[in-house]
Amino acid sequence: MQQLWTDIDHYIESNLIPEDSNLKFALQNTEDQGFPDHLAVAPNQGMLLQMLIQMNQCKRVLELGTFAAYSTIWLARALPKDGYLMTIEGRDTHAALAQQNIDHANLPVNIELKVGRAADILSKIDTDTFEPFDFIFIDADKQSYPEYLDLSLKLSHSGTVIVLDNVIRAGALIDLDNQRPSIEGIRLTFEALQNHPQLLSCTALQTVGSKGHDGFAIAIVK
Ligand code: DHB
Ligand code: MG
Repeated sequence: MQQLWTDIDHYIESNLIPEDSNLKFALQNTEDQGFPDHLAVAPNQGMLLQMLIQMNQCKRVLELGTFAAYSTIWLARALPKDGYLMTIEGRDTHAALAQQNIDHANLPVNIELKVGRAADILSKIDTDTFEPFDFIFIDADKQSYPEYLDLSLKLSHSGTVIVLDNVIRAGALIDLDNQRPSIEGIRLTFEALQNHPQLLSCTALQTVGSKGHDGFAIAIVK
């Protein structure tokens, strides 16, 4: 099925997703420098993230797990000129690649790339003075998703949308023999999302396509 899913993703992309030279550059630069491209979201997924931001007229966006900044560019493109995007990357090599791609895109939006462990950076933010985020995309190390969710909620307001990437992992989620920390992290995230007192609503969607079988969880803060 993988080939069919990939072909259909290409059909969707060629019909519905306008070409963008900055996104193209980001993917080519990632490949040229020998980084794997499967870590980036697919173009139609990038468009979905953009649309969620547009739908809610978000101005302040947080991304955890920048990798090559491909998704970052999608998020930033959806913002108005006075928008702000904070993106956090844990690995120096990824951050260097990301900064190149962000600089090349030269978008009219304030994009701040922070390098370090997202949990350390977020827990140092003074929530009394910091304006909360309107949209949060969690896409960093899966093991830490429960911690990232907690920290994200502290930086949210009523109506903030939180999207979590890679919550299905080709079904590893429900394979109880698989106890890798990344998969356990996702299971604990589902537990945390379940009946969470700070969430208005929450669901998860499986996706298939050029990135295999995976999925998003999406939550709205109460
Ligand atoms: C992996 C991480 C991602 O965020 C993703 O979208 C796909 C794969 C990974 O770590 O393998
Ligand atoms: Mg991801």
